[in-house]
Amino acid sequence: MEYQNILTETRGRVAIVTLHRPKALNALNDALVDELGDALRGFDADSEIGAIVITGSEKAFAAGADIGAMANFSHMDAYLGNYIGRNWEVVTTIRKPVIAAVAGFALGGGCELAMMCDLIIAADNARFGQPEIKLGVMPGAGGTQRLTRAVGKAKAMDLCLTGRMMDADEAERSGLVARVVPAAELLPRAIEAAETIANFSLPSVLMVKESVNAAYETPLAEGVRFERRLFHSLFGTEDQKEGMAAFVEKRKPAFKHR
Ligand code: HXC
Repeated sequence: MEYQNILTETRGRVAIVTLHRPKALNALNDALVDELGDALRGFDADSEIGAIVITGSEKAFAAGADIGAMANFSHMDAYLGNYIGRNWEVVTTIRKPVIAAVAGFALGGGCELAMMCDLIIAADNARFGQPEIKLGVMPGAGGTQRLTRAVGKAKAMDLCLTGRMMDADEAERSGLVARVVPAAELLPRAIEAAETIANFSLPSVLMVKESVNAAYETPLAEGVRFERRLFHSLFGTEDQKEGMAAFVEKRKPAFKHR
């Protein structure tokens, strides 16, 4: 697939996908989301890649779903066309860790896309919001759900009902973003985090992601049981033997499954 709306590159074991519709502040149209899904699926299947970074420009991660593209939708266009459900969900099916490196605006669908990723690293100029209410609609790609789980009811209601933006510091205080870094260091720091993850043993990386995600779907006792079964299963890997032997022998582990 030839990409018109995203750029892709790899650095070592890290894949970087850059949203690239600069004139529209990376507004997310169907073509872009299709391309993003294709790229993510490709990197997920690529054994040379261990983690993926999604980023945008300095000014905007993404300023939302493309308003022009949906302005004249009828109910049936949206419903029968399975708008959002048709292609956005791909992001949530990726098994390898996906880091959102967010600078500038992450609004509406842009904020929702960032929240579909496994963790968000924000530049100090990042601004997050769910301003759909100002357009006479509401979040439709998980905004009311993932934001509420991430920051709690009070902030989620505030952002979704007033449409106001939250800056990077507030987003970090609220638990939406994992780290805030100076804007100029955003991509290097996100790549560094991705590289760290990509050099661990892949089975443990995948299971950590699966297990943390299970915390959203399961009661505590069931989640803890699920975690323990995964933990037990890792004693069947060569990398567990290598990781623990390396610690005992005071050397760096050479993981086989990466
Ligand atoms: C289409 C968009 C866009 C969007 C910006 N642009 N956001 N085009 N869809 N979501 C375009 C503008 O029309 C403009 O194009 C160019 O990008 C630059 O934007 P400006 O407004 O001139 O920039 P600025 O004054 O810096 O303001 C930045 C902004 C503002 C605050 C981010 O653009 C804005 O409010 N955008 C809309 C944000 C929003 O409402 N997002 C939610 C969308 S609904 P031209 O051609 O005029 O230069 C949504 C639904 C989610 O996401 C449901 C499921 C996905």
